[in-house]
Amino acid sequence: MDPVRNPFAPGAGTPPPELAGRDELRETVRVAVERVRLGLPTKSILMVGLRGVGKTVLLDRMRDDAEGLGIQTLRVEAPESRSLPAILAPQLRQSLLRLSRNQQAKDLAQRGLRALAGFAKSLKMKYADIEVGFDFDPEPGLADNGDLEHDLQALLEAAGAAAQKAETALAMFVDELQYVKEDELAALITALHRTAQRKLPVVLVGAGLPQLRGRMGRAKSYAERLFDFPEIGPLSPDATRLAIAKPARDLGVDVTDEALDRLVVETRGYPYFVQEWGKHSWDAADASPITRVDVENGSASAVAALDESFFRVRFDRLTPGEKRYLRAMAERGPGPHRSGDIAESLGREVTSLGPTRNKLIAKGMIWSPHHGDTAFTVPLFDEFMHRVMPGADWKI
Ligand SMILES: Nc1ncnc2c1ncn2[C@@H]1O[C@H](COP(=O)(O)OP(=O)(O)O)[C@@H](O)[C@H]1O
Ligand SMILES: [Mg+2]
Repeated sequence: MDPVRNPFAPGAGTPPPELAGRDELRETVRVAVERVRLGLPTKSILMVGLRGVGKTVLLDRMRDDAEGLGIQTLRVEAPESRSLPAILAPQLRQSLLRLSRNQQAKDLAQRGLRALAGFAKSLKMKYADIEVGFDFDPEPGLADNGDLEHDLQALLEAAGAAAQKAETALAMFVDELQYVKEDELAALITALHRTAQRKLPVVLVGAGLPQLRGRMGRAKSYAERLFDFPEIGPLSPDATRLAIAKPARDLGVDVTDEALDRLVVETRGYPYFVQEWGKHSWDAADASPITRVDVENGSASAVAALDESFFRVRFDRLTPGEKRYLRAMAERGPGPHRSGDIAESLGREVTSLGPTRNKLIAKGMIWSPHHGDTAFTVPLFDEFMHRVMPGADWKI
């Protein structure tokens, strides 16, 4: 079928033609931002899940939903290498500038901008990567202690007060939260705790890999009480069928039930795979309807495309030792696996592999569902490791 009209959209953060199976979560977030705007007790929401389950696109959609309700939003992604204050400051500035256009909120928003100036200037020593424009001079004593925990709290309080005056809320959408350092997470948690106590309309909607939950708990033991951690998993079979059938049908193309059943099996409901298989099945078909045979014919190129993109980008960032560790995990199946068993496969002591395991966790490749257990953060990565490192050479 015409590849030009192919609706499917595999790619990190690429919006799908149909965001299937996530209505309930969107509704949860809508309720949370509406409640926080009214000053009612609300937990912030941190969505956790493996790579490719659709956290980023869901976060973007939730942000659009919130904007549509008149909520003041900001959206950032925590990269591995930058500090939280550095990524938040420019976005907070934009939010405060927008709030300052509201007549009622103008004075408080300008106070927020003064807080931001104090915040950035006093933290610049510690976080050299902070780059933000100054619209007003700092106000002595306002968010300028030089201590992140204190200053972020003062800054979010000032921003929350401005949002409250404008009869809106400030909703912060933060992706890849697992990369934020624990002391910076602790400061964020404290600041949100404070705004909640003062009934200020500030809420965090975050997303991250499954290790985020543990990191939050270690950063502040009371984090569990302040946040909900909904798990974002694979799509149900019905949602998987919808994710493929609807975009096709919208273009006048049918997909047979048998084809859809096959797609459910091949993709296991993982959204990235759903898009990849949808795309390749479409390309493999000559005409409507897309049949089971088309899906089967598209499978090899779907797998090849995943190997070249989704899996490959992660693999290429690994050292030889890290690759061997993951290959040893894959040898034992999808997991999770006991660290001792992985070490045994490699003929090494568990303790000597500790640093490799820690680096893999920091890179977001693996995580620990329970003490001493290790699991992949990328679905079906074990099968990829077998394809990319066949044979037994890795054992040496
Ligand atoms: N609910 C969904 N229905 C269909 N496709 C989806 C859904 N969520 C995500 N996708 C697709 O899955 C892929 C990965 O999404 P992304 O948000 O980057 O995942 P993550 O951030 O969890 O790694 C994208 O191609 C996206 O279009
Ligand atoms: Mg993402």
